[in-house]
Amino acid sequence: MKIAVWKPELSVSVKSIDEDHQKLFDLINQLFEAMAKGKGKEIIGSAIEELEKYTIFHFNREETYFRVTNYAMGAEHSREHQIFKQKVAEFKNNLSSNSSIAPDVLTFLRDWLLNHIAKSDKAYEEHFKKFTLA
Ligand SMILES: [Fe+2]
Ligand SMILES: [Fe+2]
Repeated sequence: MKIAVWKPELSVSVKSIDEDHQKLFDLINQLFEAMAKGKGKEIIGSAIEELEKYTIFHFNREETYFRVTNYAMGAEHSREHQIFKQKVAEFKNNLSSNSSIAPDVLTFLRDWLLNHIAKSDKAYEEHFKKFTLA
Protein backbone atom coordinates (compact mmCIF):
# COMPACT_ATOMS: atom_id res chain seq x y z
CA MET A 1 0.00 0.00 0.00
CA LYS A 2 1.17 3.47 -0.85
CA ILE A 3 0.54 6.33 1.52
CA ALA A 4 2.36 8.94 -0.57
CA VAL A 5 1.40 9.38 -4.20
CA TRP A 6 2.99 11.99 -6.46
CA LYS A 7 0.67 13.52 -9.01
CA PRO A 8 1.36 15.73 -12.05
CA GLU A 9 -0.27 18.74 -10.34
CA LEU A 10 2.68 18.70 -7.96
CA SER A 11 5.15 19.27 -10.79
CA VAL A 12 7.34 22.36 -10.42
CA SER A 13 8.51 22.17 -14.06
CA VAL A 14 12.09 21.21 -13.14
CA LYS A 15 12.83 17.58 -13.96
CA SER A 16 15.44 16.89 -11.28
CA ILE A 17 13.23 18.36 -8.57
CA ASP A 18 10.14 16.44 -9.68
CA GLU A 19 12.23 13.26 -9.66
CA ASP A 20 13.53 14.06 -6.18
CA HIS A 21 9.96 14.51 -4.93
CA GLN A 22 8.94 11.17 -6.43
CA LYS A 23 11.95 9.51 -4.83
CA LEU A 24 11.06 11.00 -1.43
CA PHE A 25 7.53 9.65 -1.76
CA ASP A 26 8.94 6.22 -2.69
CA LEU A 27 11.12 6.27 0.41
CA ILE A 28 8.15 7.20 2.62
CA ASN A 29 6.15 4.34 1.08
CA GLN A 30 9.01 1.91 1.67
CA LEU A 31 9.26 3.04 5.27
CA PHE A 32 5.51 2.68 5.72
CA GLU A 33 5.61 -0.82 4.26
CA ALA A 34 8.49 -1.84 6.50
CA MET A 35 6.54 -0.60 9.53
CA ALA A 36 3.25 -2.16 8.40
CA LYS A 37 4.94 -5.52 7.91
CA GLY A 38 6.43 -5.27 11.38
CA LYS A 39 10.00 -5.30 10.10
CA GLY A 40 12.78 -5.09 12.65
CA LYS A 41 14.42 -2.00 13.98
CA GLU A 42 17.41 -2.45 11.74
CA ILE A 43 15.44 -2.39 8.50
CA ILE A 44 13.22 0.46 9.65
CA GLY A 45 16.27 2.33 10.92
CA SER A 46 18.07 2.04 7.60
CA ALA A 47 14.92 3.13 5.74
CA ILE A 48 14.74 6.26 7.91
CA GLU A 49 18.41 6.92 7.30
CA GLU A 50 17.86 6.68 3.57
CA LEU A 51 14.94 9.09 3.81
CA GLU A 52 17.04 11.46 5.90
CA LYS A 53 19.95 11.36 3.46
CA TYR A 54 17.80 11.92 0.43
CA THR A 55 15.88 14.71 2.13
CA ILE A 56 19.13 16.55 2.84
CA PHE A 57 20.34 15.94 -0.72
CA HIS A 58 17.10 17.27 -2.17
CA PHE A 59 16.91 20.33 0.08
CA ASN A 60 20.52 21.15 -0.81
CA ARG A 61 19.61 20.98 -4.48
CA GLU A 62 16.73 23.42 -4.03
CA GLU A 63 18.79 25.72 -1.83
CA THR A 64 21.60 25.77 -4.43
CA TYR A 65 19.05 26.77 -7.06
CA PHE A 66 17.78 29.51 -4.75
CA ARG A 67 21.31 30.91 -4.51
CA VAL A 68 22.23 30.71 -8.17
CA THR A 69 18.92 32.25 -9.26
CA ASN A 70 18.82 34.81 -6.46
CA TYR A 71 15.40 33.67 -5.28
CA ALA A 72 13.86 36.28 -2.97
CA MET A 73 12.02 33.72 -0.81
CA GLY A 74 15.06 31.47 -0.46
CA ALA A 75 15.85 32.17 3.19
CA GLU A 76 12.26 31.70 4.33
CA HIS A 77 11.90 28.53 2.29
CA SER A 78 15.16 27.12 3.66
CA ARG A 79 13.87 27.63 7.21
CA GLU A 80 10.97 25.30 6.37
CA HIS A 81 13.50 22.71 5.19
CA GLN A 82 15.28 23.04 8.51
CA ILE A 83 12.07 22.19 10.38
CA PHE A 84 11.50 19.06 8.33
CA LYS A 85 15.10 17.88 8.77
CA GLN A 86 14.61 18.23 12.53
CA LYS A 87 11.41 16.18 12.37
CA VAL A 88 13.10 13.38 10.46
CA ALA A 89 16.01 13.42 12.93
CA GLU A 90 13.52 13.27 15.84
CA PHE A 91 11.78 10.35 14.18
CA LYS A 92 15.10 8.55 13.90
CA ASN A 93 16.00 9.23 17.53
CA ASN A 94 12.60 8.02 18.74
CA LEU A 95 13.15 4.78 16.95
CA SER A 96 16.41 4.15 18.72
CA SER A 97 14.82 4.69 22.14
CA ASN A 98 11.48 2.91 21.55
CA SER A 99 10.75 -0.52 20.24
CA SER A 100 8.11 0.75 17.88
CA ILE A 101 7.04 4.03 16.33
CA ALA A 102 3.54 5.24 15.71
CA PRO A 103 2.47 5.28 12.07
CA ASP A 104 1.02 8.77 12.56
CA VAL A 105 4.57 10.11 12.67
CA LEU A 106 4.95 8.88 9.13
CA THR A 107 1.65 10.34 7.94
CA PHE A 108 2.78 13.61 9.51
CA LEU A 109 5.97 13.54 7.39
CA ARG A 110 3.93 12.70 4.31
CA ASP A 111 1.44 15.52 4.92
CA TRP A 112 4.17 17.99 5.67
CA LEU A 113 5.98 17.11 2.45
CA LEU A 114 2.82 17.22 0.34
CA ASN A 115 1.86 20.58 1.74
CA HIS A 116 5.39 21.93 1.34
CA ILE A 117 5.57 20.89 -2.32
CA ALA A 118 2.07 22.15 -3.12
CA LYS A 119 2.67 25.55 -1.51
CA SER A 120 6.32 26.48 -0.98
CA ASP A 121 7.92 24.50 -3.81
CA LYS A 122 5.17 25.47 -6.25
CA ALA A 123 5.84 29.10 -5.33
CA TYR A 124 9.29 29.04 -7.01
CA GLU A 125 8.01 27.48 -10.25
CA GLU A 126 7.52 30.76 -12.13
CA HIS A 127 10.83 32.16 -10.88
CA PHE A 128 12.78 29.03 -11.87
CA LYS A 129 11.19 29.10 -15.33
CA LYS A 130 13.29 32.18 -16.10
CA PHE A 131 16.44 30.04 -15.85
CA THR A 132 17.64 26.87 -17.48
CA LEU A 133 17.51 24.39 -14.64
CA ALA A 134 17.58 20.69 -15.37
FE1 LIG B 1 11.15 20.06 -2.64
FE1 LIG C 1 11.39 22.92 -0.64
